[in-house]
Amino acid sequence: MSGARRLVSLEDLGDGDLERIVRRGVSHSAGTSVHHEPLAGQVVGIYFGMTSTRTRTAFWSSALRLGAHVITFGPSDLQTNTGEASSDTGRVLSGMLDLLVARTGRPTGELADWAGQHRMPVVNAMTEEEHPTQALADLTTLRRHFGSLEGLRVLYVGEGNNTASALALALGRTPGVELQLRTPPGYGLDPRLLELAQGHARRCGAHVAESHRMEPAPRGFDVVYTTRWQTTGTTKPDPDWRRTFQPFQVTRELWRGSPEAVFMHDLPAHRGEEVTADVLDGPMSIAFQQAENKMHSAMAVLEWCHGAPMEDRVAGAALGEGRTGSEKASLW
Ligand code: CP
Repeated sequence: MSGARRLVSLEDLGDGDLERIVRRGVSHSAGTSVHHEPLAGQVVGIYFGMTSTRTRTAFWSSALRLGAHVITFGPSDLQTNTGEASSDTGRVLSGMLDLLVARTGRPTGELADWAGQHRMPVVNAMTEEEHPTQALADLTTLRRHFGSLEGLRVLYVGEGNNTASALALALGRTPGVELQLRTPPGYGLDPRLLELAQGHARRCGAHVAESHRMEPAPRGFDVVYTTRWQTTGTTKPDPDWRRTFQPFQVTRELWRGSPEAVFMHDLPAHRGEEVTADVLDGPMSIAFQQAENKMHSAMAVLEWCHGAPMEDRVAGAALGEGRTGSEKASLW
C-alpha cells in the first residue's frame, strides 16, 4: 500500500474529510450507521506513551467493533526509549501493522516522522501541540446536539493547550461558527496554530479570536468549553500559576450572560479547579456524552483511514437533539 491516509494533524484533512468524519461519528453515535466490520483481518497498533482513559479505550473498542485485532504498546515498550529513530520505528511497524494510533505527548514533528513511511496510516491520539481526535469528537458532539453548527457561538475558557488548538483548527473550518478563546496571560494558544485557525476562518466564513481577559463578561454563547488546568504530562514553570488561572474558572456565573449554553469538557476534570461541580454535574453539562462520542468518532476516524464505506441507514435522523423543528437544519 502506498500513500496511506494519516491524521497526524487536522491539517491532514481536507474540509470534506473533516465534515465526512464528523457526520459519520454522529451516525455511529445515533446507531444509524451501517458497517460490515471493514477492518476484519487487519491489525491495529495502539501506542500510548502517556496515561489515557478515554482516547485509548475509544480507539481500542472501535478497532474491535470494526473487526480488527489490536496490539497495544505502553510507555516502556518501544525502542524509541533507547534512542531508535522515529522514522525507523515507523518504517518497521508499517511492515507489521495495518494502522497505528499513537499518543506521544511530544512534538508533533516526531509523530510525523513515524508517519513518514506512507504505508501505514498513523493517527495522532495527542501530541504536545495538538489533540485532533478530541476536536473530531467535540464537533461530533456539537453536531449531534445542535443539528447544524451554522451560527453556533462557542466560548472556550482556560489554557490554550492541545485541545484548544485542535478545537480552533476544526471550528475555524466550520462556516458560520464563532469561537472566542479566553486564555490566561502567558498560557495562550500556540501562535502558529492560532494563525492557521484564523486563516481557515477567513476562508470558510467562521470567526476565531483569542483574548487574555475575562472582561467584558461573555454573553450570548451556545457553548462554554473548558479543559483541566494541568494538561496531561505538562508542568508550569510559574509557581503562582493558579493565581493567573483563577479568573478563568468556569462557574455558574457565566450562565448569567448565556443562560441556554451547554457545557463541554474534554475530561478528565478536576472539580473545584477549572470548573465547579455544579456546572460539570449540572443540567447544562454534556461532557459525558462528549466522552462517549470519542468512541463513535474514533470509529469514523479508523474507517476514514482505511478508506471504508461510510454509509448511513437514516441520514440526518440523529441530528439536533438540542434543537427542534426547523432549527434541525442539516447544514455543517
Ligand atoms: N480527553 C482525553 O484525551 O482523555 P484521555 O486523556 O483520558 O484520553
